[in-house]
Amino acid sequence: MDYQESWDHCATLSTSLTLSDISKACRGLSDFQGDETAVLKVIGDSKQKGYKRVCMPLTTEKWKERWSKMCLLPNESSDEDKESASKAAEAWRLNPAFQRDEVTITRLDEAEGIIVMVSEWLELDAADDWVRHDAEIALKQELAYASYLNIHTVILPSPRNRDHVASYARIVNSCLTKFPYIYISIRLPIYNPSVFQPSSPSSPVLRPTSPPMHASLGSSSSIAPSLVISESEQLPASNSGVSLNATWEMWDLIRTMCDYNMKLTLTLDLSPALPTTLGVLSKWAAESVRHIFLPASTFIANVKGYPHRPMIILAEVGEGRHTRGGENAYSQYVRHLEKTSPAVQAAKKAGTVENFAQGYQDYLQAPLQPLMDNLPSITYQTFEQDPIKYMQYEEAMFRAFLDHPVDEKLVVCVAGAGRGPLVARCFKALERSNREATVIAVEKNPNAFVTLQERQIKEWGNKVQLIFGDMRLIDVPEKADILVSELLGSFGDNELSPECLDGAMRFLKPTGISIPSSYTAHLAPLSSSKLYNEARSTKTEKGLETPYVVMFQAVNILSGTKASADGRCGPQVQECWEFEHPRRDAVLDSQGLPFTNSHNARSAKLRFYIPHAGILHGLAGYFEAVLYGNIGISIHPHRKDQVSKDMLSWFPLFFPFREPLYLPSSSELQVSIWRITNDRRVWYEWHAESFISVPNSAGTSEELLMGQPFSGSFSASSSSFSSMGAPSPLVDSKEPAFLDMTRMNTNYAGSGGVEYETVKIGHTSLHNAGGRSSWIGL
Ligand SMILES: C[S@@+](CC[C@H](N)C(=O)[O-])C[C@H]1O[C@@H](n2cnc3c(N)ncnc32)[C@H](O)[C@@H]1O
Repeated sequence: MDYQESWDHCATLSTSLTLSDISKACRGLSDFQGDETAVLKVIGDSKQKGYKRVCMPLTTEKWKERWSKMCLLPNESSDEDKESASKAAEAWRLNPAFQRDEVTITRLDEAEGIIVMVSEWLELDAADDWVRHDAEIALKQELAYASYLNIHTVILPSPRNRDHVASYARIVNSCLTKFPYIYISIRLPIYNPSVFQPSSPSSPVLRPTSPPMHASLGSSSSIAPSLVISESEQLPASNSGVSLNATWEMWDLIRTMCDYNMKLTLTLDLSPALPTTLGVLSKWAAESVRHIFLPASTFIANVKGYPHRPMIILAEVGEGRHTRGGENAYSQYVRHLEKTSPAVQAAKKAGTVENFAQGYQDYLQAPLQPLMDNLPSITYQTFEQDPIKYMQYEEAMFRAFLDHPVDEKLVVCVAGAGRGPLVARCFKALERSNREATVIAVEKNPNAFVTLQERQIKEWGNKVQLIFGDMRLIDVPEKADILVSELLGSFGDNELSPECLDGAMRFLKPTGISIPSSYTAHLAPLSSSKLYNEARSTKTEKGLETPYVVMFQAVNILSGTKASADGRCGPQVQECWEFEHPRRDAVLDSQGLPFTNSHNARSAKLRFYIPHAGILHGLAGYFEAVLYGNIGISIHPHRKDQVSKDMLSWFPLFFPFREPLYLPSSSELQVSIWRITNDRRVWYEWHAESFISVPNSAGTSEELLMGQPFSGSFSASSSSFSSMGAPSPLVDSKEPAFLDMTRMNTNYAGSGGVEYETVKIGHTSLHNAGGRSSWIGL
């Protein structure tokens, strides 16, 4: 894959140039003979300094002046002035166009590869209808000009006004349609920095004050834009969760209204100061961050692990803000942070999953069907590169052998031997444990069976008996003490290990054991617009009803890290079900086979606590297997490093949801999943519902909805609830915050005598009903 080959560990560094940088370069040019222009000069200088790309404003102050004169009138203007401005504005609306001195770039060579900043002062979400209207025309004029110059990437100023962010999103959506070759990136501060500024009556949160037709322009400086939060949403300082989430919620609304358009990305503005709450930062990891904007005034944040290797745009670096180090110091420091980050170091180290998986991050793969299909040799070769899996199997066999007397002649059957790596490990374990065994290898892939024959001739001789065929149908010459198999998928049972081993149990002595002895499937709710977009890019219903194997990168697990004290909500990753082998309780026919597959059906209902608001896009699936005793293999995110560190063979499974589901802070997510079977197929169906807890002791539900104040006894009940009474679904809980959840399923909380009820707020549809979109063939 060329994606993989071109991968390196360095982010692309770009520089953000200002109008003053361009005019300085202009003064430096002695004459304009030849092809040199001020813009070409600043671009050339930047490239020489090692920056890959240049980001610059598209328009000049002249444009801002003309637009303001036409579209914004001071209150005190005379009638004549108003009339002439209105006429000029109407002429412009009819035919929106620039004058030469209103733009920074005019030529294709100046525009090549640059990223342009659309006019910062455009208020696409202004409270005033006319300002919004004219800002939209101006934006489209700028994008039309950018498109004329073949510019592919533009950065839009941040939305500033939560009350009108839907208007902002509508305009962006219309631009995405109108300019199909332009990638639009929205600049957003990681959260609203103003939340940490003490609010006093004389310095309220910024808000537009101008009456209709008389709006004021926003600031054109490059600092992170502040945010306007409507009065009803302003909460006491203790409830800063609202503001901490505010910019992400705006982004969520915009990309949802733009239908997750792939050409819409984020420019994350890391202007000071960064929040300390991890949940606030980690939700951005699930978003399509294209650029990271780092002004020199920022204390440089940890840039590790951002998805899609966003480009870093360094701003204000030439302004001498710091006395030492000069301009190079900024890029050197970013590089240092990158090099020393654990994610990059792991990716560079041979043998790690991160190194092995390069180029496969967030790449959706259909799970293997080794029962229905015959695997090609190259796939076996990839498996065999995993030293850990085979080491664990060898250790499990070794320990199992030691538990038999030294003089006992054992029978070991490797079921599903592939090209024979487990057979080879079996011989090693026999040697180490000083035991002897008859080894039988069963394989149903006729092509891999040729490789087994080759190895028998060259390596094993008559120490091994090869048997060709399906383990559910064939017979073996001797019953085994130990049945060794590796028929596991990323979700444990999804490659039909339970069904195959049911058949192979006929080969076991009554005292015989299976390696693995058991395996479990696990789930966690996840957010990832990247994976959601990938899954739906197939444009069929099937695409969003199929589990995929994926190496997760731009993913945020939404569930809280700890289980609730009352046990209602489980931990971040929860177990769905288990399979054990041999299954002594199964009802068998005369050939030792189960009558039906009903005993392999499973279902689980899991409850997750969601501390921070987020969008549910799917479920992450993992497995763990006990091979023998305390030897296992695991891809469970919290336990894999203890159980089988650096095991490469399995990436997690992704169960997508057709419709993203918004989950407020402090909500509960209930996930149902079923493993369903008939005599020909096995498939999964999945579904989720969301809930919040509300007090029901005070006021009617209508009052709750209307936000009426509640009685004093109620408002004293919990510090995490707003003074309006109802817990705000927007307010982040501070982990660990499971006190709230302990009240969710009970009607009586004890704290202030307040009763709580669980209110349902949303659900997904049932996915893959009847196995209509995805199934595994028996
Ligand atoms: C995941 S591969 C593992 C191969 C090998 N044991 C290894 O660890 O590299 C599973 C193997 O089991 C074989 N297999 C799957 N179902 C089988 C069945 N019912 N009977 C016999 N072989 C089967 C497949 O053809 C495949 O070679």
